Amino acid sequence: MINSEYVEMLEHKDIIFELAAYANQRRAEVGPENVFDFSLGGPSVPPPIEVHQALQELIEEGDISVMHRYTPEGGLFETKSMIAKDLNTRFGSSFTADNIFMTCAANASLSHAMRAVAVPGEKIMTFAPCFSEYEYYVKGAGCELVIVPADTETLNINFDEAWKMLDENVAAVLINSPNNPSGKVYDTETIKKLAELLTMKSAEYGKAIYLISDEPYREIVFSDTDSPFISNYYDNTIVCYSFSKSLSLPGERIGYVAVNPKADNADLLVSMFAQISRTSGHNGAPVIWQRVLAKILPCTSDLSVYETNANLLYNALTEYGFEVVKPGGSFYMMPKIPGGDLDAFMKKALDNDIIVVPGDGFMCPGHFRLAYCVPTERVERSLERFKNLL
Ligand SMILES: Cc1ncc(COP(=O)(O)O)c(C=O)c1O
Repeated sequence: MINSEYVEMLEHKDIIFELAAYANQRRAEVGPENVFDFSLGGPSVPPPIEVHQALQELIEEGDISVMHRYTPEGGLFETKSMIAKDLNTRFGSSFTADNIFMTCAANASLSHAMRAVAVPGEKIMTFAPCFSEYEYYVKGAGCELVIVPADTETLNINFDEAWKMLDENVAAVLINSPNNPSGKVYDTETIKKLAELLTMKSAEYGKAIYLISDEPYREIVFSDTDSPFISNYYDNTIVCYSFSKSLSLPGERIGYVAVNPKADNADLLVSMFAQISRTSGHNGAPVIWQRVLAKILPCTSDLSVYETNANLLYNALTEYGFEVVKPGGSFYMMPKIPGGDLDAFMKKALDNDIIVVPGDGFMCPGHFRLAYCVPTERVERSLERFKNLL
């Protein structure tokens, strides 16, 4: 017998990939330069040169048999030490290699964190607008995703609702800043308010409510944006990171989980991750990429294009009359749908070969997501077409 759960999932088509496929079709029909595809969140800049130099060095260093071996549980000590040192230097934290566990990117990091702090049947709470895949990540852990509705004016955390919804069945709260899909970066005041909520509710229910901080866009923060290191404000934090965006390596599957050393059961949690790897099939982050990281951290791609694109789009769209919260980071923004009619808007957008994603899948109806991880000349040439959508 086959597993009907996954058969049923086939019905839940991924609208983002459908739109991206449509964009490909249009590229073939009208030429790639005439399609303005803002659907997919894949980095548009290449990895830094250091990545390829490090790969070259590894090959030249020559010990091929060692290079491809299994790593110790949780990853190479030198890579984990580099990560801890980098975090401590930049954020004044006190991680050691023992607090870090290497993973196959953010999806796997979240998978480990959720399974470690929530048992099947418990709830994991997050805030809209949120990443559309969370539903499946949480389901995979056997838990129920509870989504606090968006504050649609600010796209900030809706604390009034969060206080009401955080009941004793919530094992963990999942946060993503800089945010996909909104580009929102939660400021220090917001993170302090969240820490207060979690501290009070943990005391009320007599248990640690963990904060799972999904940070694949941590390095993509724009000028003058207050972007606190979340783990510094709440001890029971598990940081989930990926090099998919900061080093433009989404296909290589490399990231880590970092447990705040002051968290309840910090050491036990890291040991548990090794067991979760065994059972979830996510074991063994790629060793070559761990070795590359050990050579190049804290290097990143040149991420400046995302801010350039954000400014161009934000300035033009607001001038034309779109309502949009200014993004502080990542490579997304979420304007409101002018007039509020999704179908009419999507038709008009597609007629203009502008491909954007409806906000519904991100639990933020009435909005659309723009992924501006595209070449800047494409953004510039798209602006006239956005005018047509009003
Ligand atoms: C908010 C968020 N979390 C997690 C992921 C998964 O990242 P990865 O491909 O590194 O597993 C993504 C990917 O786009 C994302 O946007």
